[in-house]
Amino acid sequence: MLEIERAEGVFMYSPTGEKYLDLVSGVSVSNTGHCHPRVVEAVKKQVDLYMHLMVYGEIIQNPQVRYAERLTGILPEELDTCFFVNSGSEAVEGALKLAKRFTGRSRIISFKNSYHGSTHGALSIQGGERLKNPFRPLLPDTLQIDFNDEDAIEAIDTKTACVVVEPIQSEAGVICPGNDFLKKLRQRCTETGTLLIFDEIQTGFGRTGYMFAMKRYNLVPDILVLAKALGGGMPLGAFISSNRIMSVLMTNPPLGHITTFGGHPVCCAAGLASLNVIIEENLVVTCNEKSALFRQELKHPLISGIRGEGLLLAVQLVEPEYVRYVIANSHKYGIILDYFLFCNNAFRIAPPLVIKEEEILWACAQLNKLLDDAFNNIRKK
Ligand SMILES: Cc1ncc(COP(=O)(O)O)c(C=O)c1O
Repeated sequence: MLEIERAEGVFMYSPTGEKYLDLVSGVSVSNTGHCHPRVVEAVKKQVDLYMHLMVYGEIIQNPQVRYAERLTGILPEELDTCFFVNSGSEAVEGALKLAKRFTGRSRIISFKNSYHGSTHGALSIQGGERLKNPFRPLLPDTLQIDFNDEDAIEAIDTKTACVVVEPIQSEAGVICPGNDFLKKLRQRCTETGTLLIFDEIQTGFGRTGYMFAMKRYNLVPDILVLAKALGGGMPLGAFISSNRIMSVLMTNPPLGHITTFGGHPVCCAAGLASLNVIIEENLVVTCNEKSALFRQELKHPLISGIRGEGLLLAVQLVEPEYVRYVIANSHKYGIILDYFLFCNNAFRIAPPLVIKEEEILWACAQLNKLLDDAFNNIRKK
């Protein structure tokens, strides 16, 4: 494991001065890079004013209100009510509870190879048995269907509370929806009175070349779940819905979802600053140009394909053995790479969106050298 002493922009530095280019962003968190000066300034300013005051929702806290206002201002108008929590898993929990409470139904449908977090509810709907089985029994009445399988959508019926989907499946190895799949899903949910939940925890905040992937597919979910880049490097999650839906958490019982630290003012201040950077530095638009440059520069006989949108890319190699070698040795080439949870023949490229053209060229040259090294080393065995 690497020890890192400080990080700035797209680089991390070890205590002995080695420099590593981050191609992972802490798994789609550091979209504005490490320690962006405007984010750091916002954190410092808020720390000087106040940190924790009271459990969420009891006192009006300016950073929460300002961030919720800014966020809902850039979202479709149906998504006008924001509930802040601490993490992605917690945001998923809140969304599941909201859907059950709103519909009065219990069945939850999600997708194979999806990842939604590690708490009991989020784990129950996750689409990988390996991580789930040791913790059973989990939440009852859940079902995982195949992503991109139109026929499987038939399973959604009037007993289904919600369908939870990543518009682009990240940990599955960046699997994009094909053939109007999400549109058909939206239709089926509307027909059956089922709430559609988009988990944009990884795809949010410009990562896919759109502020949110739902824009790419021109769809609006009933509940949107956000985390990771939401906090600009600080822990923050949110589930966002319409006021009509969200209001059910206020009665029977009142306080239907409680959090002490949810929407921590320092995290909200950081998140708001980071969102403003994404917008003002035009990081969403330039994301696609940067993606094209990676695709153009990454050419190697070991690469059997590159999937994804924007700067959420999966580089598929001819054999999983090469992937293991490349990731294990990436630091020797001054770059940081990572695995996917449910795809062993590809590695992830998801750098901070602030990465510059010359940094992409350098990273790709290093990667191509590393792939040569993998080829020579594994062939020798
Ligand atoms: C798509 C998706 N949903 C949910 C989560 C869970 O978020 P957290 O780790 O903040 O609980 C993750 C984390 O990797 C994720 O990628």
